[in-house]
Order: sequence, then structure tokens, then C-alpha cells
Amino acid sequence: MTKSTKPQLGTQSVWGGEEQYLLQGATQVPVVHSVSFGYHDMDEWMDVALGKKPGHIYGRNTNPTVDAFEEKIRLLEGAEAATSASTGMGIISSTLFALLKPGQRVVSVKDTYGGTNVIFQEFLPKFNIDVTLCDTTDHDQIKREIAKGCDVVYLESPTNPTTKVVNIAELAKAGKAAGATVIVDNTFATPINQNPISLGADLVLHSATKFLGGHADALGGVICGRKDLIHEVYHYREINGATLHPMAAYLLLRGMKTLELRIRQQNSSALQVAQFLEGHSAVERVFYPGLESHDGHEIASEQMRGFGGMLSFMLKENSFDAVRKFVPRVKFAHAAANLGSVETIIGPPATTSHVECTAEERAAMGIPESLIRYSTGIENVEDLISDLDQALEIFK
Ligand SMILES: Cc1ncc(COP(=O)(O)O)c(C=O)c1O
Repeated sequence: MTKSTKPQLGTQSVWGGEEQYLLQGATQVPVVHSVSFGYHDMDEWMDVALGKKPGHIYGRNTNPTVDAFEEKIRLLEGAEAATSASTGMGIISSTLFALLKPGQRVVSVKDTYGGTNVIFQEFLPKFNIDVTLCDTTDHDQIKREIAKGCDVVYLESPTNPTTKVVNIAELAKAGKAAGATVIVDNTFATPINQNPISLGADLVLHSATKFLGGHADALGGVICGRKDLIHEVYHYREINGATLHPMAAYLLLRGMKTLELRIRQQNSSALQVAQFLEGHSAVERVFYPGLESHDGHEIASEQMRGFGGMLSFMLKENSFDAVRKFVPRVKFAHAAANLGSVETIIGPPATTSHVECTAEERAAMGIPESLIRYSTGIENVEDLISDLDQALEIFK
């Protein structure tokens, strides 16, 4: 056996970041519910308050359980620093509002998560921040727009819900050359499959609600990257107050212990489900980066260690009515607006990722009416496939 110096991702998922938070021999990080942290020594209080000494003052700012969660994901993403928020959207909005000023410009892609898209189209323009949304797979257009000058390049890969893939290294290089901060939403990939910082991004963020937590019982958001940038995001978030709750941090931390195990299973099952669907006569098209037929397969193979648990597929009968008939027939899946859990979850973008958008906006984004997003759980894949097979029988 070779001696390894740095623990691998599975080991890091279990052990990473916890040691300094274990109290009096406890083997698990405690949930510290205390809102405030008291000091009888006024000098010590002042030093902690001024950040000259480690410690906590008030729960809206920092908390030990939340710190442990941030530390684990920081290690998994190989980043200098991390900070969190109450939801994925909490960290995305805190990041954009912390880093951008009126008169500045963002270059992003059309296929970002629906909520992020609303920030780009509705909120940033109110602050005189210009946003250019490029065709997600047109790398030449994205690079041209970046080269015109911008302050933030915001990417997501694979995207929600059509699993489009962008070349992170290529676009991060272009962003750096333009002097922009490069941010990547890594929610679909997870740090087990992809580390955007090692591909050149400055910041990587997650809706921790999804695969990181993995059990659909806690909301959270987290961002990792350069210390100076993370501090700016943290400072804005401590003031806007979208703080991660210690109980949620505990649940996310516990969920993350099995992250690598879950993702390995989900990578493998999603590929088999995608292959099955691709061969089915009632299915028009399957979107999964692990399929050779996927436009981004080559880039995904270069930048990802696994293709993830998320796929989507379009029924041959392209109507919402077909979705209405099909979804209730699937037994081993929650029909719900979530993803990344141990249970399989299905839902159309119209009621999930793109519920914030109008039907016209969805059509403009190339999201067909019969598209179904499929978040592969950790069930036995044979059961998932035979379940889909019986559900698709109505189209025979
Ligand atoms: C890729 C992606 N980013 C961000 C978010 C927002 O996360 P949250 O629901 O935790 O606010 C989601 C939610 O589905 C998502 O899928």
C-alpha cells in the first residue's frame, strides 16, 4: 500500500474539518444553539469582537457548528476559505450583491438556475448592473462578451435542468484575463465529481440543500474560495442576516459524511438510468453528460471525475399533459421541487427549477414542455429502471 499524505475525498467527507469542534471527547460536532457568546474579560471580548482572537460573539455572525460545516466543504473544494448562508439563493445573492457595484458588468449563461436568473434579469439591473446572458454552449460568444470587459463571470456546470456543460478552465482563463472574478455554481457536480477552483475559478458555491446535505431535511448555501473575496461575502451576509441555522449546519454536516458514498452510487445509477431511457421508444431525448450523445460529454469527461446524479429527459409526446399522466405512475420517486437526496426525485422544470420563469421564458431557454428532471437517489438501480419502465407503459 502506498503511503498517502493527503486524505482522499471519501475520508475527507467523514473526518474533514471536525476535530477542532469536538467538545470534551465527543465524537460528533455539537449543535451550539446559543445566540450569543459571553466574556467576563473585557479585553478578551474586545479582541474577539475585533477579530484579533478566534471566537464567537453573536449567532448572526458566526457559530461553532456552522464553522465546522464550512470547514468540511472548504477542505473538499480545496479552497482557502468558506462562508455560508441560510439557503443556496442566500449565498448566491449575498455573493453578487457583496462583490458588484453600480456600473459594473456580469457575463453569464442563459441556463443558470431559475432563481439566479431572476437576480440577473430583475434585481441586478435595478442597481444599474449590466448582465449579459450568453448561449450556454457557445463558448466563442461567452469569451467575446468576457473580452469586452466585465467584473464577474458567473458559470454553472452541469446546468439545471438540461445538464449543459461549460468548459470551466477555458472560461476561467478568459475571465482572469479580463480581470473578472470567476464564480461557479457546483451544486449539480458536487466536490466529489468536480473542483472548479482547481480549474481556475476564484469562487465555487453550492446549494447545500441538495447533494451536500443529501437528505432533503435542511436548507443551506455555501461558497468557497479566495480569503479576501470570502471575507467580503461573509461581511455582506452578516449584515443582510441570511445566516445558516446551527441545526441546519449540523444536519448538513452529518449528511456530508456519506457524500462520497452517495455520489459514487448516484453517478453509477444515473448513467444506467440515462442509458435505459435513451433506448426507450417513448423517450425523445435524454440529457446526461455521461452519455456519448450529450453535446458536452467530451468537456465533462475532462473536467469531471463522475457525471453526477442529475439527468433530464423529454417525452416523445411533448405536452404538459403527458407529464401529468406519467409522473404519478413513478413509484420510487418523490414528485417534488428538490434534488440531490437519497430518494429519487422527479419533477418538470415548470414546477421546480424554473417555476420563477414564465412559460415563454422557459421556451426561450430551450426547456420543452415534456421535460422531466430526474434526480437519481441511492435506491438499487434495477428497481429504478423497472419502475420507469412500468411508468412509461402508458405511452405504448
Ligand atoms: C444549481 C442550483 N443552484 C442554486 C439553487 C438554489 O438553492 P436553494 O434552494 O438552497 O436556495 C438551486 C436550487 O434548486 C440549484 O439547483
